[in-house]
Amino acid sequence: MPDQKAKAILNDIGTEELAHLEMVGTIVHQLTKGASIEEIEKAGLGAYYTDHGVDVYPQAASGTPFTASYIACKGDVIANLQEDLAAEQKARATYEKLIDLCRDEPDVVDPLRFLREREVVHFQRFGEALRGVQDKLAEKKFYLNDTLVNNNASILSTNDNNCNCK
Ligand SMILES: [Fe+2]
Repeated sequence: MPDQKAKAILNDIGTEELAHLEMVGTIVHQLTKGASIEEIEKAGLGAYYTDHGVDVYPQAASGTPFTASYIACKGDVIANLQEDLAAEQKARATYEKLIDLCRDEPDVVDPLRFLREREVVHFQRFGEALRGVQDKLAEKKFYLNDTLVNNNASILSTNDNNCNCK
């Protein structure tokens, strides 16, 4: 990462995303805690219950388990930040669909709205990081010749020794 500010932004967002995972897991736990088998079946969670009981298991709404293949990295800072920007938009869109589905549950909708807003902020901060990195990469680079630097240092050192001023 060629830019310290971008590094800090990535660290901040990554830390916050882990907290979001905890919030979503807590919502799922609170919604399923103490649910009867009939309530679980009525909610369409029969297959989930069969595989995981009421434990919190990271998977897509379609049932596909979370894997590292969801993490996009290309070994190129610009491509990686573009992937991050797209991921934030996908997260925002997912929260909006969840809000639609949970529209009659204010205790669920409110934290989902908060999470959606944070994804918008993350998108903006990744954009800020991308602009910073692009500016950094576009800077003109100056290279110093070591011999020239050493000779100048030697001259300066010699001048210091011959200085008559006190
Ligand atoms: Fe995010």
